[in-house]
Amino acid sequence: MPMITKTVKIDENNIDEALIKEAGEIIKRGGLVAFPTETVYGLGGDALNPESSKKIYAAKGRPSDNPLIVHIYRIEDLYEIVEEVSDNAKKVMDAFWPGPLTMIFKKKDKVPFETTGGLDTVAVRFPIHPTAMAFIEASGGFVAAPSANISGRPSPTLAKYVCEDLDGRVDMIIDGGNIPIGLESTIVDMTGEKPMILRPGFVSREMLEEVLGEVCVDPTILDANSTERPKAPGMRYRHYAPKADMIIVRGDSDRVVAKIKEMGQNKECTVLCVSEHVNEFAGMKVKDVGSEKDYNEIAASLYRVLRECDDENTALILSESFSDKGIGAAVMNRLIKAAGHKIIDV
Ligand code: TXA
Ligand code: MG
Repeated sequence: MPMITKTVKIDENNIDEALIKEAGEIIKRGGLVAFPTETVYGLGGDALNPESSKKIYAAKGRPSDNPLIVHIYRIEDLYEIVEEVSDNAKKVMDAFWPGPLTMIFKKKDKVPFETTGGLDTVAVRFPIHPTAMAFIEASGGFVAAPSANISGRPSPTLAKYVCEDLDGRVDMIIDGGNIPIGLESTIVDMTGEKPMILRPGFVSREMLEEVLGEVCVDPTILDANSTERPKAPGMRYRHYAPKADMIIVRGDSDRVVAKIKEMGQNKECTVLCVSEHVNEFAGMKVKDVGSEKDYNEIAASLYRVLRECDDENTALILSESFSDKGIGAAVMNRLIKAAGHKIIDV
């Protein structure tokens, strides 16, 4: 049954306490609220209520073996839901919380298996977005939230995309305007011998290694041919997928430009490229993803650009490939998934 969705605007610099309280009451009653975070919009429900988690899966159309991230608004609450916090985890918390980083811990019984997709571990994130923090506090402190998109679509970085996907499926949508980072949080598994990155994000491997020394990366993340199962169940699914066919062209930048021009000749297609190359593709339909000098800009625009291609019914997307250093690793991870691993090396 579709429900009536109330959409409200909240300015993070001047938070409307009455609206936040109303949003928190919805969560406490077992309802769903979409809200802004610094990474992407989230689809929130009470993390400690199994019925709420079931509703989240239903609203997203997501397989229920794909665990949810539990969002907190203060460090002390971590100890309520996880068994053990290692010295390494404390170092990571000191350096990056609150912020765009999620850690996996052994869970306490208090966290229902409905929230963790049946796993005995739980993913925990302490976001830094002021509206997210106020909302989590008003909700009782533990908000389970996947990205606020229908399963398989790019994560929303603007409220209009949340509305497109979730209108009629959630009780409230909080419009917090533009989202600064634009890619989901880095996920680090702290339950093994060595910390392991399960999903790259704004907090890069290099940044984590400065705090922890050596950090492993789940080998399935960038390797299209890997036969291993990704450790984050969600990384298995074809994610972040635009409706169009998408191909990435990788290699030396002159050759990449030449190859894309050749492939796009006399074809209806859209080219994704850095600002510096826009003029190279004169006569073709081009989307500027941002300057190659600022990967944060590319990260922030990627999902919006993919959604625009959907809106314009693009049949074929030809994308340049980007550096995989720093946040570039996260950009390339999402881009390769969006393309269903279709890459041409030149
Ligand atoms: O930035 C973010 O993390 C956003 C915002 C809303 O906070 N949330 C987000 O959630 O990206 P979602 O559900 O779209 O992605 C969560 C990922 C999935 O790939 C899931 O498999 C993995 O985290 N995950 C969750 N719990 C896990 C666990 N216990 N062990 C391994 N992977 C886990
Ligand atoms: Mg997601």
